[in-house]
Amino acid sequence: MDEMMTAVEKKQRYADVAKEIAAVIDGEDNLIARMATVSNILHHAFEHYFWTGFYLVDPNRPGELVIGPYQGSLGCLRIPVEKGVCGTAAATRQTQIVDDVHAFAGHIACDARAQSEIVVPVLTASGELIAVLDVDSDQKAQFDETDREGLECIIKACFS
Ligand code: SME
Repeated sequence: MDEMMTAVEKKQRYADVAKEIAAVIDGEDNLIARMATVSNILHHAFEHYFWTGFYLVDPNRPGELVIGPYQGSLGCLRIPVEKGVCGTAAATRQTQIVDDVHAFAGHIACDARAQSEIVVPVLTASGELIAVLDVDSDQKAQFDETDREGLECIIKACFS
């Protein structure tokens, strides 16, 4: 992680990013446009982000998540629901923080450099799961409760 960034600074950065995202997507109702904006702004705001993007629920294949807008190296196209960190977040509808992806049973290594990650479920206002937001770092143990709060807040504001 950015060694210079304290928890207070990180919290402030999330608040600033949330405002920037809200300003850019204001009035835009297309889901892909909103997701592209969220992944782009987040990815460039934090040094500990290595891969940042969405996996969407695919109505044509209910057992799988399919790649959505993202930033970073080439992502896997599909992830079975309940497999990997993304699948677990989708199946449980709970944010997953993994300090060491190599110690996570069923982890899907789209890029061997990924070491730790956080995955936040994306729910509509009516509680329907539409996607997950996956953020990976190329160093271990880079995501904490400040990331969880910041990301959950942004996801709720943008998609609920
Ligand atoms: N690490 C994820 C797979 C997706 S990518 O790393 C882009 C997982 O295990 O769910």
